[in-house]
Amino acid sequence: MRQEDPDIDYIRIAATALPVLLAILILSALAHVDRTAMVALWATAAISLLWLLARYRADILRERRRLRISAGVRERGGVAPRALTRLVEGMADPLLLLDMKQRVIHANRAARALLGETVVGKDISFYMRHPAALDALDAAIATGEAAEREFTLLDPVERTCMMRASIIEAGEEDTLERFVLASIFDLTKMKRAEKMRADFVANASHELRTPLAAIIGFIETLAGPAANDAEARRRFLAIMGEEAARMLRLIEDLLSLSRIEMDEHLPPSGAVDLAPLLENIVDTMAPRGKKDAPEIRLSLAEALPPVRADRDQLVQVFQNLIDNAIKYSRAGTPVDITAQLVERLPGRSEGGVAVTVFNQGEAIPPEHIPRLTERFYRVDSARSRKLGGTGLGLAIVKHIVSRHRGTLTIDSAPDQGTTVTVHLPSIAVASLA
Ligand SMILES: Nc1ncnc2c1ncn2[C@@H]1O[C@H](COP(=O)(O)OP(=O)(O)OP(=O)(O)O)[C@@H](O)[C@H]1O
Ligand SMILES: [Mg+2]
Repeated sequence: MRQEDPDIDYIRIAATALPVLLAILILSALAHVDRTAMVALWATAAISLLWLLARYRADILRERRRLRISAGVRERGGVAPRALTRLVEGMADPLLLLDMKQRVIHANRAARALLGETVVGKDISFYMRHPAALDALDAAIATGEAAEREFTLLDPVERTCMMRASIIEAGEEDTLERFVLASIFDLTKMKRAEKMRADFVANASHELRTPLAAIIGFIETLAGPAANDAEARRRFLAIMGEEAARMLRLIEDLLSLSRIEMDEHLPPSGAVDLAPLLENIVDTMAPRGKKDAPEIRLSLAEALPPVRADRDQLVQVFQNLIDNAIKYSRAGTPVDITAQLVERLPGRSEGGVAVTVFNQGEAIPPEHIPRLTERFYRVDSARSRKLGGTGLGLAIVKHIVSRHRGTLTIDSAPDQGTTVTVHLPSIAVASLA
């Protein structure tokens, strides 16, 4: 990029003007012979000089305009690129405009937040030290083609980002100048989603393969060594039945989860009274007659307002929570279910209903709590599997509650027990009419 003032290109002017002046001098020396010839010569010389000056003036004006445009871009808010800098400023992702020497001409708000307010006017390599990110800039400048490279930011939290550099041209046809447009995209969420999808397929296949392998093993034993052992046949068939039932439950849960996810963005339209719904569920789930079965106690507040809900999905939510409370409660301790009115839902100004399911038993270590609603996540996989669990119960609960615009909270404290609370927005009775 030329920085010098175009007005002081003396050498160029002198190199062109000198031969003309010399010609005039020689001709003037000869011209004393003929006055008319001398006048003609001077006139020709004057016209030539004027023509030369006019040509230089045009060159100088063009050069000045080119310098003004690039200086304008550099100081953000120049002539043509003012619209460009405004556009860049409005983008949510960090965006930088650099000259071809990688000096920052403009950095939008997001880029300044990422790299610091002082980045403008400086060499990008002082602020961005990731070799891969700088490599994207080098590659774009070297080839003139867009280049992308991934890199990891560690501060303040680990993030996977991508630097995308492309070459753009600004200015007018005769003063076109090239710049580097560098954008930084945060790929963390996308990468996490990709990983979750891959983990999900791996987990689902693993969960299905385990019971299937057991069933195949028992079939082989029954067909071979235990062919005539009636006792072994009875025992193995019972286990095979259980394993097959677990596979069926797993497939049903997976289907149910994908159905819930499909219309998670559509809020439910039914109005559901929680009191009779909870009474029904408790009646059907109470493990009567079983040794050490926990007593299920239900405590409902008076006059609970209805909630906007899908009845079947709410049944699924409370069945899953009560099932967990029964499964993970200490022998001989009861399971307590309460439903009460709350004036304000967590983080909202509207009121609603809070349903809690409490059981005593081994507490859930705090580091596991945020992950319990992930598919297949279990504190103790072997124990959960032995109890017939698929590890999808709380994932289903979370998605249903989220569809109902409610919240799910899990609290667990050693020596006390685990409380799972579902908050649901209520419907004003007047709006039901
Ligand atoms: N009330 C509870 N007390 C202690 N741990 C619990 C409780 N509820 C859930 N957990 C823990 O959370 C994990 C995930 O629960 P989730 O309901 O998703 O799966 P699951 O009960 O193992 O299987 P599924 O519900 O699919 O049959 C459980 O494996 C268990 O470790
Ligand atoms: Mg469960």
